[in-house]
Amino acid sequence: MDIDAIKTQVDFEIGSVDSVRSLEAFRLKFLGRKGIIAQLTSSIPNLHPQERGAFGQEVNALKNKVSSLITEKQRSIASGSGESRQRTYDIGMPGIAQELGSLHPLTQILNEICGIFKKMGFAVVEGPEIESEYNNFTGLNIPLEHPSRDVFDTFYLKAKNLEPKTQNLLLRSHTSPVQIRVMKKQKPPLAVIVPGRVYRPDAVDASHSFMFHQIEGFMVDRNITFADLKGILEVFAKAVFGEDIKMRFRPHFFPFTEPSAEVDISCIICKGRGCSVCGKKGWLEILGSGMIHPNVFKHVGYDPKKYTGFAFGMGVERIAMLKYGINDIRIFFENDLRFLKQF
Ligand code: PHE
Repeated sequence: MDIDAIKTQVDFEIGSVDSVRSLEAFRLKFLGRKGIIAQLTSSIPNLHPQERGAFGQEVNALKNKVSSLITEKQRSIASGSGESRQRTYDIGMPGIAQELGSLHPLTQILNEICGIFKKMGFAVVEGPEIESEYNNFTGLNIPLEHPSRDVFDTFYLKAKNLEPKTQNLLLRSHTSPVQIRVMKKQKPPLAVIVPGRVYRPDAVDASHSFMFHQIEGFMVDRNITFADLKGILEVFAKAVFGEDIKMRFRPHFFPFTEPSAEVDISCIICKGRGCSVCGKKGWLEILGSGMIHPNVFKHVGYDPKKYTGFAFGMGVERIAMLKYGINDIRIFFENDLRFLKQF
């Protein structure tokens, strides 16, 4: 074989190598185990002894030349210069971190609270935000024109041709209408919690929002007592605010429960001594509750002599604000990342 011809061939072919792939083909062709240089080397024993030395040297020189051409080409391909179209990666370089979002603090606390009740056997049910006047009021023992309706200021919707009047539509002002929905569909025993949005035409300030979240809970069966309500709420409050908090039930009025109570926990800031968060009272109101009124049972077709039950409703923003020491409800709805990133 003519070494000079092979050199020319090498010089010619290296010119069209432009990728890792074609470089490897080039390397195999000349330096591979059955490549051209290997063939030249294996032909040496067949030569006249006097020619072997010089030929061997030429083969070696050619081999070195091919090797250094390959190294050079490797570098130019890697650095992206020349005609290289091959992308190469520095696998040692630190990656670009993908920032993951997280659940909104309200979603987190909703999940936490629902989780606590689920462990006690409650089922989670949701209801629509657009409700009938009947479910929001009448069924809950708040008759039309009754002064207690004023307590629940409400956004009414202009829906036409809805008669009788109790079929008017509104944005629900509490989650209690879901009591009516569930009890009309199912028979006791029942243990249900209802997370969801509610609406009230309040002027927005640090402690009011026209939209906020509630979690309703109710349990109905034979022989459900106020003691069951107390026990369940105590488990809930201790799970959210810590084992050492105290609870008290303060007599109150709701049209759909009798007797009714508001529930306070000992102030988590001052532990009951009195501070600005609890208004020097040492107690923080966290929810409303009571034994479901017999009139509510009549509306859904339950026999009030056979069944008893309790219900409670809490404001989720309020619970979150107390738990995390947040002093302005508006911050939940502004989507300021500096706030959201803390959760
Ligand atoms: N629905 C009442 C409210 O929005 C809370 C409540 C629910 C009270 C269930 C008693 C029983 O204020």
